[in-house]
Amino acid sequence: MQKILLFAFIVAVVADACTLKCPDGFMTFKRTPTCKNSMTSLWCVKTIFPEQLINVTTAKSLCEKEGSVLTTFENDDERLQISSALLAGLASKKQYYGAMILDGHRLSQCQTQDRSILSASPCNSPTTAFTTDDKHTDNTFMFLNWAATEPSASFYEKGVESCVQLGIHPLGDRDKKINDILCDYEKSPLNPAAGYFWNFGVACGRLPDYQ
Ligand SMILES: *[C@@H]1O[C@H](CO)[C@@H](O)[C@H](O)[C@H]1NC(C)=O
Repeated sequence: MQKILLFAFIVAVVADACTLKCPDGFMTFKRTPTCKNSMTSLWCVKTIFPEQLINVTTAKSLCEKEGSVLTTFENDDERLQISSALLAGLASKKQYYGAMILDGHRLSQCQTQDRSILSASPCNSPTTAFTTDDKHTDNTFMFLNWAATEPSASFYEKGVESCVQLGIHPLGDRDKKINDILCDYEKSPLNPAAGYFWNFGVACGRLPDYQ
C-alpha cells in the first residue's frame, strides 16, 4: 500500500513538471524575478526588420502580429544581445548604422513644448521623464543608458521627442545607447539625412510557452 502511494506521488510530481520555453525565432532572456518586472524569470524577445523604415505605430502592430508587445532591455547583457541583433538586422540591409524602436515613452505630463515644465521634476531628469508599458521588464537600467546629450527633447511642429530608439552609431558615446525620437516618423524630420537615426526595426517581447 505504501509503495502504491509513493508511486502515485512520483507520477503526480513528474506529470506536473513543465518547462518554460521561448518560441522559435525569439531570444531567451533569463531574468531575476523582482516586483519591478512582475516576477518575470524568463522573457522572450524577437527583433523584426521589415522592408520599409517604421514609426512607432507600425512597430507596435508588428509586435502584435507576433503575439508580443514593444519591449526593451533590462540589464547590460540584454542590451548587448539586442544590440547584436540590431547589428545583424542592419547588416542584412547592407547598413553599418541605424536604429530600432524600443518600448519607452515620455510621461504624458512631459509631452509638451513648455520649457518650464520640461525643466522641472520629473520631466528634467533622464531617469524620471520616461516610462515603459511592458510590465515584464524593469526599466531602471534602460534609463541609465542614454546616448551622450540625450534625451534632447527636441521639438518638431507641435510635438516633442517622446519615444525611444536604440542605435548603432559611429560615435562611441552614442553607440548601443538609447535616444528620444518623434513617435510618428520613420526618420527624424529634424535631421532626415542622418541614417543612424532611421528606424529599421523593432524589439518585441512576450512570455514563454509551457511545455
Ligand atoms: C506610421 O506609418 C504608417 C505606415 O507608413 C502610416 O500609415 C501612419 O500614418 C504612421 N503613423 C503615424 C502616427 O504617423
